[in-house]
Amino acid sequence: MIRMTALAALLAASFITNAAEEPATKGDPAKGKTVAETICVACHGADGNSPASANPNLAGQVPEYIHKQLSNFKAVDGKPAARNNPIMMGMAAPLSDEDMRNVAAWFSQQKLKPAAAKDESQIALGQKLWRMGDFKKGVPACAGCHGPAGAGLPAQFPRLSGQYPEYTEAQLKAFRQGDRANDPESMMRNVAAKLSDAEIKAVAEYAAGLR
Ligand code: HEC
Ligand code: HEC
Repeated sequence: MIRMTALAALLAASFITNAAEEPATKGDPAKGKTVAETICVACHGADGNSPASANPNLAGQVPEYIHKQLSNFKAVDGKPAARNNPIMMGMAAPLSDEDMRNVAAWFSQQKLKPAAAKDESQIALGQKLWRMGDFKKGVPACAGCHGPAGAGLPAQFPRLSGQYPEYTEAQLKAFRQGDRANDPESMMRNVAAKLSDAEIKAVAEYAAGLR
């Protein structure tokens, strides 16, 4: 219960900072659609349902999260990009902040095609981590930040339900190794550091099938 209270306070604090940081500049999905259809389509699909597991689905993703990731793929003021991926760094470089808001608005409004967990043997372990975490290892429940059904929680916490398990697994390993370090307050690095390969695989499979 103490941990839940701390988490609630953390969540509340993040809402407050985001409310202050995010001005009411909502993107224009119609303009974003053009960007999606001309540039993003090859890898993410024009509607954000990507054709291959290396490319994450963007349909139904939290718009502020999409915008943040695109910004993180960009080098700012000569500093290296906060999120390192050669393909996406090239894609984000020519986009203006307005382009990023527009394309984020477009993808967030598209319908994510439902996925199913492929490997049923992973469900019990995955579900336990998702709902309760692992008290002994100090792993918090994923549901606390990503929502009980994995739909994400605006503005900071991305949707994980319906995502390719291979992509989710790769991101968890990247956080664990510190190759991905753009998570605020090391929130995800702290979680991933405590997960084994088997746990990562199980929770990635479980999240894929959530709805
Ligand atoms: C040539 C293929 C390719 C194209 C074109 C492409 N992407 Fe990506 N995108 C990727 C890959 C691969 C990743 C995963 C990067 C990683 O593993 O960290 C990614 C990741 C992302 C992410 C992070 C998603 C998440 O869940 O964290 C966003 C947002 C994104 N792309 C948006 C876009 C937008 C918007 C466009 C068009 C302007 C675009 N991408 C064009 C390949 C592509
Ligand atoms: C304390 C809050 C918190 C908890 C608990 C948490 N996460 Fe996260 N997670 C985040 C935040 C914040 C981000 C976005 C980081 C960023 O801005 O790049 C994130 C991002 C992710 C991503 C990257 C998604 C993408 O599209 O690239 C994955 C995968 C992920 N979390 C999985 C998990 C799993 C699995 C668990 C449970 C074992 C978990 N998280 C628990 C806060 C949390």
